[in-house]
Amino acid sequence: DTGVPAHLPLAGRTVTISAGGTREPLDPVRFLGNRSSGKQGVALAAAARDAGAAVRLVAAHMEVPAPAGVELIAVETALQLREVMLAAAADSDVVIMAAAVADFRPAEVSGSKIKKRDDTADPVITLVRNPDILHELVAVRDSAGSSQLVVGFAAETGDELGDVLSYAEAKLKRKGCDLLVVNHVGADKVFGQDHNSVVILSRAGSEPQSASGSKQDVAAIVIDRIGSELSRVFP
Ligand code: CTP
Ligand code: CA
Repeated sequence: DTGVPAHLPLAGRTVTISAGGTREPLDPVRFLGNRSSGKQGVALAAAARDAGAAVRLVAAHMEVPAPAGVELIAVETALQLREVMLAAAADSDVVIMAAAVADFRPAEVSGSKIKKRDDTADPVITLVRNPDILHELVAVRDSAGSSQLVVGFAAETGDELGDVLSYAEAKLKRKGCDLLVVNHVGADKVFGQDHNSVVILSRAGSEPQSASGSKQDVAAIVIDRIGSELSRVFP
């Protein structure tokens, strides 16, 4: 008996969740962004709250409001998200990276609006790589020797070089997170949609767990799985 009420599997736990899509500025009025709506991260935050956790939602750009009863920290860029997540992870039992993090950012941000000019060539945007926040969170957790649970999300389409599951298995290994929740993305799938179909892969090597339904259904299943992983670590 863990002393945790069955309906509140995350009672006494602190869960930090990133959500939404980062925006990488080009100049004061323009940015490079992505189509993440924030819906899945918001659904996870609500599900973790309903499971009894103290929830911190680190929100990049979202098209939906944050749920009530969670602590909200707003960020814009990948570098800001990294800083907030590393700080927030320090006292978290569970860290979930549901945000769509820009892989690259403009190498230079213009301090003033970029203007069209007829006397110079059109601009070329040079990009530099953003840090891999999930990978860093795992590294920090491992070097602290903590039993924190780190969960990643991945959207894969598959291509001529590999199918969705083989890419996802490789990504799980590369990231080193405990669980990876994989979305199968097509041109009209997942981004901004209310329906979702995922496979949950585990580093410990248990069978892939499939789940589908609304983003709320998927969130409840992921939070449930996190609850059972935690009770394995602290039986
Ligand atoms: N992620 C992260 N930091 C990044 C990029 C991604 O923390 N700079 C996290 C995402 O929040 C997600 C997981 O890593 O939880 C997988 O993101 P994904 O974009 O699928 O992985 P990448 O390593 O960026 O691989 P890809 O080249 O397929 O985009
Ligand atoms: Ca990426």
